[in-house]
Amino acid sequence: MSSKEFDSTIKDYVVELCHRADFRDREWYWEEHVSEVVRLCEKFGPALGADMSILRPAALLHDLGKLLGMKDHAKAGAGEVERYLSEIAFPETTILTVAACIREHSFDPPDPESTESRILASCDGASHFTTLFWERYFFDVAKGLFSERDPSWRAAVESNAQKALEDWEKIVVSEIREYTQPHFECFKKRYALK
Ligand SMILES: [Fe+2]
Ligand SMILES: [Fe+2]
Repeated sequence: MSSKEFDSTIKDYVVELCHRADFRDREWYWEEHVSEVVRLCEKFGPALGADMSILRPAALLHDLGKLLGMKDHAKAGAGEVERYLSEIAFPETTILTVAACIREHSFDPPDPESTESRILASCDGASHFTTLFWERYFFDVAKGLFSERDPSWRAAVESNAQKALEDWEKIVVSEIREYTQPHFECFKKRYALK
């Protein structure tokens, strides 16, 4: 397979997972999250010296664990990404590097180490402010979709607001932080966050 063919195979797989029947409460996940992480990685990656043959598949697959309903989605998802990339015969030498980016995109532990890992974690955090990501969650809370996980809508809104503030801390690359700052300020104003 050429790198273009790998790219479209991986993209089709992720889009299908986002739109599958039991992920309906988050059917926006491709349009308003994963595709935005890819867009931001493409916007910043080349100028920051990233190897796009690693960063692009990592961006597409970064939340695979979440899409498959795994707990500790970064760590578990990285293992699943290794398995999936081997299955489609992705170049062996880069599989572990792509998986490392995915393992490190959520900060518990370790901090992202490689350039590609740092950009992925930053673009993931930034995407939560450059799209309606958190608004989608707030809307789902309002629709009662989160009632099983969160006994009261107020607690759910507050916990989402807290997670949104943690997203800001994920943006470790200064160029991406600067780009996201106006979006973040608007977000804080909208929800009266300090
Ligand atoms: Fe994630
Ligand atoms: Fe994500």
